[in-house]
Amino acid sequence: MENVLTIQNLNYSIKGKKILEDISLKIQKGKITGMIGGSGSGKTTLIRVILNILIPEKAEITGDIKIKKEIATDKNRRLIQPVFQDPGSYFNPRWNLQRCLEEPFDILFAYSKEEKQKKIKTLLDEFSIPEKYLHQSIRRFSGGELQRISLMRAILCQPEILLMDEPVSGLDPLIQKDAVRLIRNLNLTKKISIFLISHDIDFISSLCDYIYVIQNGKIVEENFTAEILQNARHEYTKLILESRNLSEIR
Ligand SMILES: Nc1ncnc2c1ncn2[C@@H]1O[C@H](COP(=O)(O)OP(=O)(O)O)[C@@H](O)[C@H]1O
Ligand SMILES: [Mg+2]
Repeated sequence: MENVLTIQNLNYSIKGKKILEDISLKIQKGKITGMIGGSGSGKTTLIRVILNILIPEKAEITGDIKIKKEIATDKNRRLIQPVFQDPGSYFNPRWNLQRCLEEPFDILFAYSKEEKQKKIKTLLDEFSIPEKYLHQSIRRFSGGELQRISLMRAILCQPEILLMDEPVSGLDPLIQKDAVRLIRNLNLTKKISIFLISHDIDFISSLCDYIYVIQNGKIVEENFTAEILQNARHEYTKLILESRNLSEIR
């Protein structure tokens, strides 16, 4: 099996405080891989390190990050595209939808105006967003729509991997269901590998083939989804599963 992302013995500390400790993981090509962990466990930090963004100057980082078989650089990082927790704050509020979707083209590819339009229109169809909204201000879209728009933007960058940090938290349950369907579809039809990060075990287990459990910056357990659900070994994983049962009873 080919790995599209490999992290080996990654450590991250800031002012002597360890935030990530000896993280090793693999994202297999074509699969949906998950990471579950409570708030403050280091999930967002891991994403920032992978993407090399928003890292404070004082941070100390050791370990290897490889994209396919090569050490990650500013150049090959384009193959990993993020979809952030709060897409509303990600886009320039003064831009319309068209401008937001064209932005990755202008940075990454030398397409003609017609080619750009064609690619954007095809994607709008796939994501059920009417073309007439291209001229609407990005501020006027709802949370669920912004989520889809930020996914579209990521896809227009032609990534090998989509990195999603809490993609459904804050969305209402029906829209969460749509998002699950959409993510599964993207993985199947476009063969994009996906790394999903969340505190929500139901969301993670409904989509992922393989799950890493992170606690206080360390991976405490990893396994295939069915194994995690039926045969959890680590106390922290058991706790996550128990808290889910509690919320089902209520
Ligand atoms: N710039 C920073 N300086 C010091 N501590 C930080 C900084 N950024 C994050 N942390 C700490 O790192 C830990 C992991 O945070 P984060 O990656 O946001 O976790 P998660 O996304 O899993 O909720 C937390 O304990 C947080 O307080
Ligand atoms: Mg986070």
